[in-house]
Amino acid sequence: MTHLIEISDLTLPEIDELIATANDIVANPTKYADACRGKILASLFFEPSTRTRLSFEAAMMSLGGSVIGFADASNSSSSKGESVADTTRMVSAYADIMVMRHPKEGAPLVAGMHSEIPVINAGDGGHNHPTQTLTDLYTVNLERGRLDNLRVGLCGDLKFGRTVHSLLAALSRYEGNSFALISPGELRIPEYLYTKVLGDIAYNETTDLMSVINDLDMLYMTRVQRERFFNEADYIRLRDSYILTAEKMQAAKRDMIVMHPLPRVNEIATEVDADPRAAYFRQARNGKYIRMALILKLLGK
Ligand code: CP
Repeated sequence: MTHLIEISDLTLPEIDELIATANDIVANPTKYADACRGKILASLFFEPSTRTRLSFEAAMMSLGGSVIGFADASNSSSSKGESVADTTRMVSAYADIMVMRHPKEGAPLVAGMHSEIPVINAGDGGHNHPTQTLTDLYTVNLERGRLDNLRVGLCGDLKFGRTVHSLLAALSRYEGNSFALISPGELRIPEYLYTKVLGDIAYNETTDLMSVINDLDMLYMTRVQRERFFNEADYIRLRDSYILTAEKMQAAKRDMIVMHPLPRVNEIATEVDADPRAAYFRQARNGKYIRMALILKLLGK
């Protein structure tokens, strides 16, 4: 694998290998402290980020490498009209690996076509977010001890939620998983996922979280994303569709975990944070270690 553009770029054994490396990094951090000494990560964020950007930058620094880049497209020459292809060609000359977040779907794919160094998709529009999925798989494996035979609830904005698209594509490859797709009708998953990903996988769709919560091993909550709506009135009408509260959590299994890619707005009440089943802050922390493992792999370390 040269680039990571979609989660399907990784085989299941490669995902297992990344999880094993992340576990080893956590257990033996000093072993990896100089693994990328002299290497440079270019961090190209054309869209806002807290977790993905900072965890990638912390990951490279924890491997002994250096980071260049920008956190705001207005500080790059894209604001003067430079294309993704040309930006990528230039960054290839200055760095050993690049991470790109972009509001346009497919921009990291284009970057990969013009890059001489590995390109990692850190989220492209409402399309994919494969390193969030690696974080999610690593977390599920830590919390539940397996990635198969799980009943998974995906709740909220399943239409624009790039983390959901990548996670569904990944978890559907493991034996015995089934899915409850919980969303308002207007925010159902994009059409292509029904054929390309779900195929003969067991799933049901509902607008009612409480009708399925008692059956779930993992509940993945998502934010209704204001920045993806064309119409503010639609966003306001749909934004409060699901709010997970401590009372609703009483109906869930005692070992169901709650995940969320973050940032959250109000879809998980802060009172849920104290519930041991709330895994979302642990999940965000795990992102640094699995991204360290990914950087090592793509740099052939
Ligand atoms: N989960 C995620 O992508 O968070 P950021 O937007 O803060 O990077």
